[in-house]
Amino acid sequence: MNRYNLCCLPTPLHRLDRVNLGIEAWIKRDDLTGFAMGGNKGRKLEFLVADWLSRGVRAVVTCGASDSNFIRQLAVVGRMVGIEVHAAVMDLPFDSAAGRPKGHSTYRGNEVLSIQAGAKLYKEADGDWEDMYESMEQISRDLNNEGVFAEVVPVGGSSPQGVHAFVQASKELNETFDTIVVASSSGSTHVGLATAFHGTATRVIGISADPEPTLVEDFAVLSQAYGERTGGLALTKFDLDLRFVGPGYGVPSEGGRRAQQKLLESEGIYLDPVYTAKAFDGFMNLAAEGVLGSKALFWHTGGMPSIFTEFA
Ligand SMILES: Cc1ncc(COP(=O)(O)O)c(C=O)c1O
Repeated sequence: MNRYNLCCLPTPLHRLDRVNLGIEAWIKRDDLTGFAMGGNKGRKLEFLVADWLSRGVRAVVTCGASDSNFIRQLAVVGRMVGIEVHAAVMDLPFDSAAGRPKGHSTYRGNEVLSIQAGAKLYKEADGDWEDMYESMEQISRDLNNEGVFAEVVPVGGSSPQGVHAFVQASKELNETFDTIVVASSSGSTHVGLATAFHGTATRVIGISADPEPTLVEDFAVLSQAYGERTGGLALTKFDLDLRFVGPGYGVPSEGGRRAQQKLLESEGIYLDPVYTAKAFDGFMNLAAEGVLGSKALFWHTGGMPSIFTEFA
């Protein structure tokens, strides 16, 4: 797959000697990918943008939370290369089956940055993710009807290119680990790492930012699409731990708040409330449960602007 260089790679990989979890703990600093405030989405966009440019795509349409990290980085790269960015957004989308979590958010850091970068956000009242997917498809149809070559980008950039980005990212590790723990939501970060380490002694565990147990089925579909695209293997099983979501997607958890303080006070590293705080809560608990082995890696995926979002 072609690549459009955006990130400062490799990101740092270092030990966490002061957090004291009773194991040899390491961190991969994808909060420091260096493009548009860092995070895991810059890696996916390197492969997505190269594809769009090669095919003359004029506009891309995605969806997500107003505070989406993906929309922020997509907005910036779209501006850089002259591709319009449109996004259907809700402040706190939810899964009807899991129920609507209590709370709302204001002062959304990523939303401010996405608008600053020129993205067109179509905000709807909070509702089910499926409704937002339908709005995204409609916006794309409208643009194409107006003669703009527009393409839908799956939520979070979770496409074969997104998976590929993390298969490539895995090659930056020059240490071996018993376990790698990463925040997981739309899935391509987790699927990419799981693909890279499949059949090795390293176990990849995703800590879910969403309450839906069915997400792993979507991961399998994504893996199949990646396998078809590259002629590689398609995985059907993923290690996804749903215990640390707290009240729901986009709403901070008590355990996540404790994890944020712990990592900040011991190592001077910030975590975001929506993904990485919950993932580090999972990392700490799994270390205590003895399932991480003796040497484990926490893959920090960024999300820094969400620290400036206020939740009530
Ligand atoms: C900061 C952060 N971490 C982790 C994730 C999860 O990555 P993925 O969507 O590839 O599962 C996301 C996005 O969803 C994110 O913005």
